[in-house]
Amino acid sequence: MIVKTPPMGWNSWNTFGPNINDELIRTTADAMVENGLLEAGYNYLVIDDCWSLRERDENGKLVADPVKFPHGMKDVADYVHSKGLKFGMYSCAGTRTCADYPGSFDHEYVDAKTFAEWGVDFLKYDYCFRPNYVPGHLLYKKMGNALANSGRDILFSACSWGAHETHKWIKTTGAHMWRSTGDINDSWASIRDLAKHQLNIWDYNGAGCFNDMDMLVVGMNGKGNVAVTGCTYEEYKSHFSIWAFLNSPLMIGCDIRNMTEETRSILLNKDIIAINQDPACRQAYIIEGDNWWAGRVYMMAKRLNDGDIAIGVFNLGDNDEWPNFQLDSIGLGYATGKKLVWRELWTGETGESVDVMRFHGMAPHSCRVYRGKIVDA
Ligand code: GLA
Repeated sequence: MIVKTPPMGWNSWNTFGPNINDELIRTTADAMVENGLLEAGYNYLVIDDCWSLRERDENGKLVADPVKFPHGMKDVADYVHSKGLKFGMYSCAGTRTCADYPGSFDHEYVDAKTFAEWGVDFLKYDYCFRPNYVPGHLLYKKMGNALANSGRDILFSACSWGAHETHKWIKTTGAHMWRSTGDINDSWASIRDLAKHQLNIWDYNGAGCFNDMDMLVVGMNGKGNVAVTGCTYEEYKSHFSIWAFLNSPLMIGCDIRNMTEETRSILLNKDIIAINQDPACRQAYIIEGDNWWAGRVYMMAKRLNDGDIAIGVFNLGDNDEWPNFQLDSIGLGYATGKKLVWRELWTGETGESVDVMRFHGMAPHSCRVYRGKIVDA
């Protein structure tokens, strides 16, 4: 299985934590279709931790909690598939999951077979309760082999939070995406810190195996399992844009059955999604230039498959900022005889720049994201 662009979907953890059940999953599947999320590319519906009984059965198999999932997981998977969606589940490389349900350690092959039989298309694989004598790369190699030989295409989503230098070995395990950060929570501080942390490891990202900056908190508005302060509309826009720019998987974490118009307008911004899903999957790079705002404003460019250049300007600081850069820094500039004709992807504002691109009066935590075409000046 080759995963060519960052996976997109919904995951139960951020809002629902342990409070998951059959009805939630079915109504969420319905909402993914009715709200246009599936059409926009969000095609994986993933159940996170807390879906099973606390112990395996007498044959050593995982058992779905009969109170939460009275019809079993295969029935849930069939429903999710009937909506045109793909179905994801969760386990852990250790002896127990992070919420203390049975983990897959020493049960990798039997669990991979169970997931395949249930019709699972995606496995998130966590890192809690890891036996200390086994290095992480061996734990993930075991499950990677088990999934790849399970008889079903199952996307392998590794979740070792970047621990033990995950970036150095994760591509040897068969993983298609890997958590490059600790857990997100619904606050600006968390978004900002995960974004900054990612800048040091984004070279490891690429088609086939994507850096996963964790599930989105867009639209949580301070409610749910990982809620803290909540964020403003501008902050959620910046969050979504940064994750899109850095080729992170886009896994929604809010209750999509009850989205506000603002939430919908962020998650369904097709132009921003197109930057994330660009078929070339090129890494963004930091635009060099005057840097008296260093550490506060991050300017990034990303070359797109059709020759366009995406430019993202992110004010991660707490003051208004007036950044700019010279187009030489992205391979343009006056002497080339070319200019950049651009459109801002949140406001629709259009314009062109020949020598310098200026970003006046950027409010704290705000962003501007452009798609530019190179044409004759
Ligand atoms: C870890 C993971 C989270 C979530 C929880 C579930 O903290 O990083 O994304 O899956 O476990 O217990």
